[in-house]
Amino acid sequence: MTLAGCSDDGGSGDDGSSDDGSGDDGSMDDGSDDGSGDTSELEIVHWWTAGGEQDAFNALLDGFREANPDVEVVDNPAPGGAGSAIDAVIQNRVIDGNPPSTFQIWPGQALTPYTNEDLLEDIGDSVWDDEMRDAYLDGVVELSQPAGDLVAVPINIHRLNNLFYNVSVVEDAGVDPSTIDSPQGLLDALETIDAETDATPLAHQTQSPWSSLQLWENVFIGQQSVDDYQTLLDGDVEGLEDEVRSALELLADYLEYIPEDAGSITWDQGNDGLIAGDAAFLHQGDWAAGQYEGASDFEFSDDWDMVPFPGTSGVYHSVIDSFVFPTNNPSPEATEQFLNYAGTVDAQERFNPIKGSIPPRTDVPMDEFGDFLTRQFEDFQNSDSQPPTIAHGTGVAPAIHSALDETFANFNGNLDVDAAYEGIRDAF
Ligand code: BGC
Repeated sequence: MTLAGCSDDGGSGDDGSSDDGSGDDGSMDDGSDDGSGDTSELEIVHWWTAGGEQDAFNALLDGFREANPDVEVVDNPAPGGAGSAIDAVIQNRVIDGNPPSTFQIWPGQALTPYTNEDLLEDIGDSVWDDEMRDAYLDGVVELSQPAGDLVAVPINIHRLNNLFYNVSVVEDAGVDPSTIDSPQGLLDALETIDAETDATPLAHQTQSPWSSLQLWENVFIGQQSVDDYQTLLDGDVEGLEDEVRSALELLADYLEYIPEDAGSITWDQGNDGLIAGDAAFLHQGDWAAGQYEGASDFEFSDDWDMVPFPGTSGVYHSVIDSFVFPTNNPSPEATEQFLNYAGTVDAQERFNPIKGSIPPRTDVPMDEFGDFLTRQFEDFQNSDSQPPTIAHGTGVAPAIHSALDETFANFNGNLDVDAAYEGIRDAF
């Protein structure tokens, strides 16, 4: 539960030129392919196509290409916020022995279906050299080895428990977000926005269940504590029945204040409403700030700002993305080059300021991160805990996660607290 505060300095070990030195094939055979041998075509599957995500990914690819001009990148996205469409593509391909070179995945529990079946290479020697291990936060390294071997390269740390807002909309309504001190207080603020302005109080999407699931997680932590949340992750839902129901009831109240077309929009379309001044608040990971970065005439502090989700101020509810080396790899050398690069200072310095995240390496210069991410970074360093999330896969096994997705898909439609409680209990 502690990603922050560990690990030390590291030096500058950066540059991104990767090299590795292992070039000599031989090893990574793993019974792979078909005889066509290694290629320098690198197929990457990811879901970064919305908001500012694509810009961040392109910045990463630019850096990789500069350092590795011999590799041809095949950018093969599986669009869908929070990876909602990627599993269907990836799981079948990996199981069928036809994986892409690498794919985006949350480290931690989300990796376990693959590690259980030995479908990911151990990259503890080929990629995770001593320099890299020393530079990374210890907690992030741990998440990269759920079954012992190091199998993933994390590239960012997002925060989930953010409440973003449009400054002029909340001012028009006379609402001061910094004074909202509980999840219930947020409901009062939404009511005020509704009464005092024409704006949508909460720019929430319900087309896909993950945004309601993550909001419920944050209401739960805000009403209770990180310790209770951890008890929940450990599976004791019945011991926390009243608390689980209380968070569901408040979530149902919030959902009275979302866009009329919430059921047919994506997270970034909801956020477009906030940018346009048609919505007041958004609960979302700080990938939403990546979208603000790319918007014109929409400046941090003057036009938008964020407070930690009410009741969670010492918490950095973390969401991490990583890349892996599937077995039967179509391009072992190029994949290794890419993973080596993803672990460098250069990669993380290019990617994170645009993505709206902070780096998992401790030695990335923060000069280019801007005021918002500099503040997030300080919050991270001063945070009391950095629990993993449910909706973004680090905290629960994928089978639990998908059962909860189903529960919250139903809840988005019927706001039935009894049914949702039972769904949560049964999922765990
Ligand atoms: C990922 C982020 C991404 C967000 C929305 C999260 O699960 O970790 O990188 O921006 O989903 O798609």
